[in-house]
Amino acid sequence: MPLIETRDLSYVYSEGTPYEKRALDGVNISIEEGGITAVIGHTGSGKSTLMQQLNGLIKPTGGSIYFDGRDIWENPKEIRQLRFKVGLVFQYPEYQLFDETVRRDIAFGPKNMGLDEKEIARRVDFAAQMVSLDEKLLDKSPFELSGGEKRRAAIAGVIAMMPRVIILDEPTAGLDPRGRDEILSRLAEYKRMTDTTMVIVSHSMEDVAYMADSVLVMNKGGLLMHGSVSEVFSRAEELKSVGLSVPDVTKIFMGLKSAGVKISADIFTVDSGIEEIKRYMQSR
Ligand SMILES: Nc1ncnc2c1ncn2[C@@H]1O[C@H](COP(=O)(O)OP(=O)(O)O)[C@@H](O)[C@H]1O
Ligand SMILES: [Mg+2]
Repeated sequence: MPLIETRDLSYVYSEGTPYEKRALDGVNISIEEGGITAVIGHTGSGKSTLMQQLNGLIKPTGGSIYFDGRDIWENPKEIRQLRFKVGLVFQYPEYQLFDETVRRDIAFGPKNMGLDEKEIARRVDFAAQMVSLDEKLLDKSPFELSGGEKRRAAIAGVIAMMPRVIILDEPTAGLDPRGRDEILSRLAEYKRMTDTTMVIVSHSMEDVAYMADSVLVMNKGGLLMHGSVSEVFSRAEELKSVGLSVPDVTKIFMGLKSAGVKISADIFTVDSGIEEIKRYMQSR
C-alpha cells in the first residue's frame, strides 16, 4: 500500500468568485514509503497547490487524499496530527519563519506536538546539526540569516518534528551552487540516517537525477507522467513540449546515440556519464 495516495484530487482557488482558478484537476498519484519522489512541472502547473494539500494545509475542493490508507479529511479534527506526520517546507522560507529567534522557530513544531522541554531542546539541536546550522545562529533573528541559512532553518523546523514524510517545495531555488549543494547533501545525509520518505519539488533536472527514485510530472493542473528517473527522462520530447527538459548530461548522450555512437543514452548524472564513457572507450 502506498503511504500517500490521491484520488481524483481537484482544487479550485476562490471558487464561485470572479477570481475562480482551477489549479488541480482530477489528480491521481501514489507515493511509496521510504523513497524520494521528485515533482517537476512548469510554473503554475499546480505543484505547490498539490504539496499543500498533501499535508492538509488546504482542503481539496474535489476528490480525496489518503495517508496510510485513511482519508485525511475523514475527521477534520485530526488534520493537525497529520501535519506532524507530513512536514512541509514551504516554497518561500519567509512564510515559514516568524519567531524571534531561529531556535524558537525550530522549536515551534515540537512544542505544538506537546513534547517536554528536554525533548524539544534535544530535537532542536539534532535538527540544527542535521542541516549544518551553526550554534551561533540559533539565537539570531531568522531575518538576519542569509538565503541559504533561512532555507536550512525552515528545513530544520520540519526535521525537528521527525515526520514520516518531508515535503520540500523547491528547497534550492534562488541559491548559489554552494548553497544548493549544501542543502542537497544534508538532505541526502538525513535520508540515509532516518530513511524518511521525501517529496521534493524541483526545477533542476540535475537535482532530480541526483536525488530521486521516482518522478511525478505535473502539467496544467494534471499529472502527465509518473515513473522512475529513467522512464521519465527517456521521454525527452514530451517533456520539452510542456516546457521541461532532461539533465544536460543526458542531452549529450542522447545526441551521441542518435548520431550513431554505440553508447547508452540512459545517463542522468555526470558520474554515470563518466562510467559510460570509460565503458565505451574500453569496448573499442
Ligand atoms: N492563492 C491563490 N489564489 C489564486 N490562484 C492561485 C493561488 N495560488 C496559486 N494559484 C494559481 O494556481 C495555479 C497553480 O499554482 P501553483 O500550485 O502555485 O503552481 P506551481 O507551484 O506549479 O508553480 C496557478 O495558475 C496559480 O496562478
Ligand atoms: Mg510552486
